[in-house]
Amino acid sequence: MTGPRALALLLLPVLLGWAGGHPVPGTKSFRKLLLISFDGFRWDYDQDVDTPNMDRLAQEGVKAKYLTPPFVTMTSPSHFTTISGRWIEDHGVIHNMMFNTETQWKYSFKTTQNKTEWWDNGVLPLWITAQRQGRKTASFHYPGGGAKYQGEAVQRSLVESHTHPNGNETEWRQNIDIVMNWFTKEDFDFVTLYYGEPDSVGHLYGPDTENRRAMIQQIDRTIGYLLEAIGRHSLTEHLNVIITSDHGMTTMKKKPNITEILLRNYISFKDLVQFDIVDYGGFGMLLPKPGQEEAVYQALKNAHPHLNVYKKEEFPERFHFAKHERVLPIVMYADPGYSISGRIILYFNKGDHGFDNVYMDMKTIFRAFGPDFKKNHLAEPFDSIHIYPLMCKLLGVTPEPHNGSLAVTQEMLVDTYDQHTGAEMKRASALQNTAISLTVVTGVLVVLFVAGVTFTVFCRKKTQRADQNSTSEPVRMTEL
Ligand SMILES: *[C@@H]1O[C@H](CO)[C@@H](O)[C@H](O)[C@H]1NC(C)=O
Ligand SMILES: *[C@@H]1O[C@H](CO)[C@@H](O)[C@H](O)[C@H]1NC(C)=O
Ligand SMILES: *[C@@H]1O[C@H](CO)[C@@H](O)[C@H](O)[C@H]1NC(C)=O
Ligand SMILES: *[C@@H]1O[C@H](CO)[C@@H](O)[C@H](O)[C@H]1NC(C)=O
Ligand SMILES: [Zn+2]
Repeated sequence: MTGPRALALLLLPVLLGWAGGHPVPGTKSFRKLLLISFDGFRWDYDQDVDTPNMDRLAQEGVKAKYLTPPFVTMTSPSHFTTISGRWIEDHGVIHNMMFNTETQWKYSFKTTQNKTEWWDNGVLPLWITAQRQGRKTASFHYPGGGAKYQGEAVQRSLVESHTHPNGNETEWRQNIDIVMNWFTKEDFDFVTLYYGEPDSVGHLYGPDTENRRAMIQQIDRTIGYLLEAIGRHSLTEHLNVIITSDHGMTTMKKKPNITEILLRNYISFKDLVQFDIVDYGGFGMLLPKPGQEEAVYQALKNAHPHLNVYKKEEFPERFHFAKHERVLPIVMYADPGYSISGRIILYFNKGDHGFDNVYMDMKTIFRAFGPDFKKNHLAEPFDSIHIYPLMCKLLGVTPEPHNGSLAVTQEMLVDTYDQHTGAEMKRASALQNTAISLTVVTGVLVVLFVAGVTFTVFCRKKTQRADQNSTSEPVRMTEL
């Protein structure tokens, strides 16, 4: 019996190598994901000020030349597109303000944050989809994170209070520490973190000011703090990070340099308009009184050379904006720098957004780094709609129907990312084939002997691997 014994010893490492040395075919580990949004970060804000940490990120990760947000280029609508992968006309969060044309009520951006009825329109954000597939998710001030979707809340959600200051750098760092602890101490898989700057300074002082440049440096220091915190929490190999934003910012034009858009000069609100959403930068909507739609449209359509006016059903398709039932019958947007005022000009912002997303001033940023992203990779510009399938891929979550495409962002991932699972399967099957041919050569007796010996070892070894995975590996093993 020396022959079969020797062969069994020869075969043992082969079989063990297959069973114990690699994850069992059909399973894969997924890293954690942090999505950070700095509101109103125009694509080129890092180009006229020193940003050593963002420069370092470009070396150590992926930088897109710029990112195109959806129209309307506004905070809540754009953030919900990022987290759902759906056009605004599909997800229905069509404005920062929630409104009711019957009651004439309007709610501010912050007031909407825990109003489920504004956010939950049948499209699921990634938090909920990921939770349903066994991931732990959290939202830190991210727009929409405070609502319930189909009755389900985000597992951990902090909603910005009305008095929350936007620019407190100490608090920014504390928030990063809180999020790091969510990942390490509580094993959260996906966290969205939102900061209200540089949007506020952009509105208040304008995008091309010292104040804005100083804020970009504060953001850059915060990113430096984030990098240091990721290392301190030993998350470097386990956490992917995407840093992005919702829209850009442009300098507003005012009298006497231009003729401002004042709708009262062309229509009578009292006679023709039942409800309006205007005085909110360069975007507006009107609900005409019954039978007055054509009159309003005709009066406004050529009223001002920098005002674009449409009937809802004729609003350009490329915006993917107007189909939703919440969109009012008359939709308007101004050329960059012009605000749309209703009855009086009460417009103080020096910078604003909400304009056509083709303009460079409305473009924003996309950065990404972590173990699954390539290093020093400059990506071509893309639409923010494509971030959603990328996040699903990174988390190993099966996406809901969406309007993005993984093909757009796939090239940002390390080359081995996708071959990973495929290569393991091939290797396993090659080893299986080797084992099969050897057993055929040595005959049925040997097969039975070997099977008897190795089966026990195989099982024991597998159990050990599983134990190791659950104790020392912070990453999760998941069914594909
Ligand atoms: C959220 O809702 C609670 C009441 O349910 C309210 O007290 C709080 O101010 C709201 N927060 C915001 C930011 O609207
Ligand atoms: C900034 O935040 C820190 C920490 O939350 C707080 O102690 C400090 O008072 C805040 N500063 C201002 C000016 O609000
Ligand atoms: C008018 O234009 C000039 C030159 O571009 C600029 O310096 C000035 O600030 C503008 N004034 C207003 C009120 O916008
Ligand atoms: C966006 O995706 C949804 C869901 O698949 C689909 O119903 C809708 O038609 C898509 N929109 C566009 C403009 O393709
Ligand atoms: Zn803003």
